[in-house]
Amino acid sequence: MIIHNLDTSNSVLNHFVSEIRDVEIQKDAMRFRKNIERIGEILSYELSKELHFSESTVQTPLGEKIISKVTDNIVLCSILRAGLPLHLGILNYFDKIENAFISAYRHHTSPEEFEIKVEYLASPSLDNKILILADPMLATGSSLCEVYEIMKKLGEIKEIHIVAVIASTQGIDHIANHFPANTHLWVATVDQKLNAKGYIVPGLGDAGDLAFGNKL
Ligand code: URA
Repeated sequence: MIIHNLDTSNSVLNHFVSEIRDVEIQKDAMRFRKNIERIGEILSYELSKELHFSESTVQTPLGEKIISKVTDNIVLCSILRAGLPLHLGILNYFDKIENAFISAYRHHTSPEEFEIKVEYLASPSLDNKILILADPMLATGSSLCEVYEIMKKLGEIKEIHIVAVIASTQGIDHIANHFPANTHLWVATVDQKLNAKGYIVPGLGDAGDLAFGNKL
């Protein structure tokens, strides 16, 4: 797996990540969603540098200019529901791509044990396409692996790019063993710990709840 941790150099990205982590600022759900969206935009910009380009000519009112543009067919798949603000941010930059949605949630068999349940999938064919998988919190990595097992049946995927906001080192190690070696991981920052419930520490809490409110 090729890991791109954007935290290794300072940028305005730090401000957005700091706000989603901050226990007071994150209470503003609209701001929380907006910051995740902005992080999605920055990660998309970085990711775009690894795509395939070919030259085309643009006609301006005053002349012609040759510009390289992305040629890949891309499908963006987000894991519901926390992935939605990240999905919007990525879509702001790759506005003509296809979209897929999959639900994956933790079904707790005890307070500290869970299995991943997938109940909903809507996706185009993935044949010869770049698959971007958006999951804001890469904690244990189990949901991403479960999702990959399902998505790989939808066609011969050309290349996979995983986009995450916060990843745990344990989660990264886990997915590195499941995804093809040429898979890229784009992450805004990495934390070292998971707690007994599989939450990232210090992390930010429950991204789905912060974006969309508590659930039963
Ligand atoms: N999902 C979240 O929203 N937060 C975590 O820390 C882990 C999984």
